[in-house]
Amino acid sequence: DWTMAAFRDTKIAEIRDQIGKGRVICGLSGGVDSAVAAVLIHEAIGEQLTCVFVDHGLMRANEAEQVVSLFRNSYNIPLVHVDASADFLGGLEGVTDPEKKRKFIGAEFINVFEAEAQKIGGADFLAQGTLYPDVIESVSFTGGPSVTIKSHHNVGGLPERMNMALVEPLRELFKDEVRELGRELGLPEAFVSRHPFPGPGLAIRIPGEVTKERCDILRKADSIYLEEIRNAGLYDAIWQAFAVLLPVRTVGVMGDARTYDSVCGLRAVTSVDGMTADVYPFDPAFLSRVATRIVNEVQGINRVVYDFTSKPPGTIEWE
Ligand code: XMP
Repeated sequence: DWTMAAFRDTKIAEIRDQIGKGRVICGLSGGVDSAVAAVLIHEAIGEQLTCVFVDHGLMRANEAEQVVSLFRNSYNIPLVHVDASADFLGGLEGVTDPEKKRKFIGAEFINVFEAEAQKIGGADFLAQGTLYPDVIESVSFTGGPSVTIKSHHNVGGLPERMNMALVEPLRELFKDEVRELGRELGLPEAFVSRHPFPGPGLAIRIPGEVTKERCDILRKADSIYLEEIRNAGLYDAIWQAFAVLLPVRTVGVMGDARTYDSVCGLRAVTSVDGMTADVYPFDPAFLSRVATRIVNEVQGINRVVYDFTSKPPGTIEWE
């Protein structure tokens, strides 16, 4: 009968078979999936693995530090930390189309991995934490005709010029199964139970043009929202909660002055696998508190709205 411990052992054997004496580069995004993939592959092949954490400048507040310290200090897994924010933000200049953002970011990740592979004298494999729903949603919508809803940043294979093959040990799993595997591998509970965070990061939470300034504004609003969620003890009851920064300015009043600033949208959903989702029904007093704090503490935002759309017809992310 099927257990996560047995799955882990089977996967380790499969990874050893696939990799042989090859070298593997694993891209870490800061999320649970790539961290679980990395730890699993490390168990299978040890030093043949090099992990690369690409900071694209589209992370949330303090995210980069948390991942780097988990890998270097708790696991002792060698980790290369690449600050590629100038390239990512530079390439996103003037880009407003959601699919163009996603495709650019996916391609830029590959460029960075390729450059890092060269630095270690070449790699034979690129490992990613791709899950089953990532694959399905990039190809077609469940049960419907074959239409691309969103191109997930890590789905679509590698360019032909590359001599690397993909290793995707989580490709058959759903999120709850990945978390269980993470626990089986001894990852800290606080890390395993983190909300999902998309590879393209804040770029797809800033409709319109993405700039460093807008990322900074969004990071502040998002961390206030999540701090309030944690303080209210609601974090684990929610699948995913985040703020988005809209390319719309509205008029407000602060003290006796007129303001004309951006709108911040708040999203929180419950879900089992991310394929469908329900709106989290916050107490209105909670939302008022968050809205007041964001408008008072974040320069550049003067209005906060709550997204009441389930999935479908909405998607979880706004782009
Ligand atoms: P949507 O917005 O399609 O999102 O309802 C479903 C789940 O997938 C996450 N998501 C992504 N994760 N790369 C990722 O690693 C991506 O390109 C990507 N796009 C969406 C989203 O955060 C949600 O959990």
